[in-house]
Amino acid sequence: MKRKLAPSMLSADFGHLEKDLRLAVDAGADYIHVDVMDGHFVPNISFGPPVIKVVRKIIPDCIMDVHLMVTEPVRFLKDYAECGADILTVHAEAVKDLKTTLREIASAGIKTGAAVSPDTPVSAITPVLPMLDQVLVMSVYPGYGGQSLIPETLDKIRELVEIREQSGLSYDIEIDGGVKLSNLEEVLAAGTDVIVAGSAIFGHDIPAMVKRFRDTISEGS
Ligand code: DX5
Ligand code: ZN
Repeated sequence: MKRKLAPSMLSADFGHLEKDLRLAVDAGADYIHVDVMDGHFVPNISFGPPVIKVVRKIIPDCIMDVHLMVTEPVRFLKDYAECGADILTVHAEAVKDLKTTLREIASAGIKTGAAVSPDTPVSAITPVLPMLDQVLVMSVYPGYGGQSLIPETLDKIRELVEIREQSGLSYDIEIDGGVKLSNLEEVLAAGTDVIVAGSAIFGHDIPAMVKRFRDTISEGS
């Protein structure tokens, strides 16, 4: 699999969202990572379906990687399907019935993801790994951009690589939180397939940063 870069729009300039996202996609971003926060599962509120619908409209050619930091998101899956999400990731800690939630995502024709927060072991999602297109390993506590990567979380990426090899599965492994050019090589060496980066890309020279990330990612492939 070609390793992917997913700039997180949480750090974009919302006053110039179209410009920021267009610059990122045209410079080679593979996905746009979209962080939905409900003020309940995480102590912060970001945006929801109306904004995601706008992103789909203004950047129709992007792959929207939607990260739901939402308690029991099964209530809203239909809305996200209608917004044009391509990948929907739910948190293992935020749902009672992970299997049913993932089944509903898949039956809406959307790729499935499950996320684990820093204190959640991989074992919390082992039973659903065969159902997943993507596993998201949170390398910071969910809720805010601009935090520092917790190095111990890279062990979970190594563990997920090993399980995937042993069991013949094919999920992608995504890392989210605190990834910078300075730790990117270490993150790639752990076996990460999809790199989320927010504050390291937006608020800077966006095309230049996307290119620098992409170059390092391609070298590591
Ligand atoms: C945190 C979000 C992240 C965040 C990443 O809860 O899930 O996607 O935007 O931002 P940086 O790269 O700044 O840590
Ligand atoms: Zn995220």
